[in-house]
Amino acid sequence: MAAPAQVAGDDSGTLETFESLDHYRDWQEREGVPVVRGFYIEDLNTLELGSWERKGGRGAFVNLEGTGNVNDAHVVEIRAGGESVPEHHLYESLVYVLSGRGSTSVWYDPAHKQTFEWGKGSLFAIPLNAWYQHFNGSGSEPARYVTVTSAPTILRLFHTEDFVFNNPYVFSDRFAGQSDYFSREGKLYGRRRQRVLQTNFVPDVHTIQLYSWKQRGGGGSNILLELADNSMGAHISQFAAGMYKKAHKHGPGAHVIILDGVGYSLLWRPQGGEPMRCDWKPGTVIVPPDGWFHEHFNTGSQPARYLALRYGGVRHRQPMAISIGEGSDVNVKEGGWQIEYEDEDPSVHRIFESELAKHNAVCRMKGLVPSCTGLPPEDAGED
Ligand SMILES: [Fe+2]
Repeated sequence: MAAPAQVAGDDSGTLETFESLDHYRDWQEREGVPVVRGFYIEDLNTLELGSWERKGGRGAFVNLEGTGNVNDAHVVEIRAGGESVPEHHLYESLVYVLSGRGSTSVWYDPAHKQTFEWGKGSLFAIPLNAWYQHFNGSGSEPARYVTVTSAPTILRLFHTEDFVFNNPYVFSDRFAGQSDYFSREGKLYGRRRQRVLQTNFVPDVHTIQLYSWKQRGGGGSNILLELADNSMGAHISQFAAGMYKKAHKHGPGAHVIILDGVGYSLLWRPQGGEPMRCDWKPGTVIVPPDGWFHEHFNTGSQPARYLALRYGGVRHRQPMAISIGEGSDVNVKEGGWQIEYEDEDPSVHRIFESELAKHNAVCRMKGLVPSCTGLPPEDAGED
C-alpha cells in the first residue's frame, strides 16, 4: 500500500525557499519599456511611450486587468523614416494602425518576402513565427500602431525564450509565401446570425462593410474577422446614435478599441454591485473582465464603431475565450449571456437619457426599452 503523502510543516527554516517564476514578466522587464496597467486606457494615441529601439522608435506594454493575463497589447511608434529590426516569434500578433502610413515585409524564406502597405485604420496579422519588419513610409511623421498578442500565454507556457524567439519552424499551412497573401480579396462566410470575413489584410476598419446583428441591440451591425489563420480573432461592431447595446458577458482578453464616436461603457461583476464606468472616444481601449457584464452606450450624434482584438477566434476555438455568437447574443434566461432590455435595471436607461441630454442628443430607444421617453430607432419599420 502506498504511503500517504507527507506535508511539510515548519521545516521551511531549513529548506531553500521555492521560487515561483513569471517568464512573461521577466521578458517584459528586460525589454525595458514602460508597462501600463489598469482597467482601461483613455487614448492609445497619446499614451506615453519609452525608447524601444528594436521596434524602430518608442513603445509601451499594456496589461489591462480584464485580460486575465491571456493576452497583452504593445503600443509602438516608429519614428519618421524609421524601421523596426526584423524579428519572429511563436506568439500571435494582430496589428491595428492608429496613425501614419508605412509598409511591412513578411517572410519565412528571405527569397520570398511579401511587402504590403498600410495606413491609419489598417488591420493585419503577422503569420505565426514569420519574420517581419515594419517601415514608416513618412519622412516627417511618426507612425503608431497597437498590436494585441498572445505573448503572455506563450512565454509562460514554454518558458524557454530561445524556443519562442529562435524557432525555425515554418507554419506553411498558415502562410506559404503567396505573392497575393496580403492583397487578395477575403472570403465572406455566414455563421449563425453573423458574417465572418476570412482575410489577411483590412485596408481600413473605419469603412469596412458591416452586417446587421439585431440580437445584440442598439441598431447594431458587425463583422467577425479571421486573419492569417490565427488562433486569435477580431471583430468590428457599430451601433446607432442615441442607442445602446444590450449588456452581455463572455471570457477575458477582448481589447475593445473605440474607432469612431463618443459614449461610455458600464461594466459590473456577475453577482452585481456598483458598475465601473469608462467614458470613451476614438483611441480608448477597454477589456471587459472574464464573466463581467458590460454595456456600451452611444451618447454622440453619429454611429459609434469599435474594433475588438480577442484572445480566441471563431475557427480555432480557445477554452478561455469569448464565444461570439454562441451565448453572447442569447438571453441569460435561456442559458445565454445577454440581458434583454426589459430585464435591465431601470437606472441604466435613466442615466443614459440624462447623459444624452447633456450632449443635446436624443434617445432613440422608444419601443425597445419600456421607460424610454425618446423617439423610436431611426431604422424602425425595417424587418
Ligand atoms: Fe462584449
